[in-house]
Amino acid sequence: MIVIEEIRRLFQTGPVSFFSETFIFIVDELFCKLKKQKNPKGNPMKDTVFTRDITLRGRGMKKGRLKKIKKGLLTLHRFEIMAVNIYRYQISRKKSGLETDLIAAMKNEMGHVQDFQVKLLEYGWRPHMLRWQNWMIGWVFGWSSAMMGRKDVLRMGIWTETRAIEHYQKLLNEVDWDEDTYKMVEKDLNDEVNHLYHWKALLD
Ligand SMILES: [Fe+2]
Ligand SMILES: [Fe+2]
Repeated sequence: MIVIEEIRRLFQTGPVSFFSETFIFIVDELFCKLKKQKNPKGNPMKDTVFTRDITLRGRGMKKGRLKKIKKGLLTLHRFEIMAVNIYRYQISRKKSGLETDLIAAMKNEMGHVQDFQVKLLEYGWRPHMLRWQNWMIGWVFGWSSAMMGRKDVLRMGIWTETRAIEHYQKLLNEVDWDEDTYKMVEKDLNDEVNHLYHWKALLD
């Protein structure tokens, strides 16, 4: 039973998990290359419950503006993938007393990944091909800080959120976002500020 438990754990964390997720990325990339996915036109199912929150974007916008929006969405999407993994792999078997907070933070960051992935696809773009690198960096940072203990878990959280806030503020000012995307970026920035205050309060 112990062996089965260890094998199960290996598949859920660490290198095996990394390779399985990388495999999913590769299949996803190949699938979209084969389909030659392009910016879809029109929205025939606009009134259905599944599509009412989705808006196809980008038509009529100038190339320069689109370029900056794309760069901003890709940057924040990749950053959020890293943030999810940092919190995910900080949740270790050694109980640090932070498990509930870390799961809540991971869930919130997963929502941010979803926000940016949806916006990228609404514009007819694809997530960055090298986003697996951010997955890997997040895993290394999360796992290594968990090894060092509670204080380093919190310091890593503070470092992550500080960098996130810098990225968000810079891109919020530099990019001429469409109204919906601006509100989304602003909301996610507010979440990052709350995360930062929370980790700082727990460290003090
Ligand atoms: Fe985030
Ligand atoms: Fe955050």
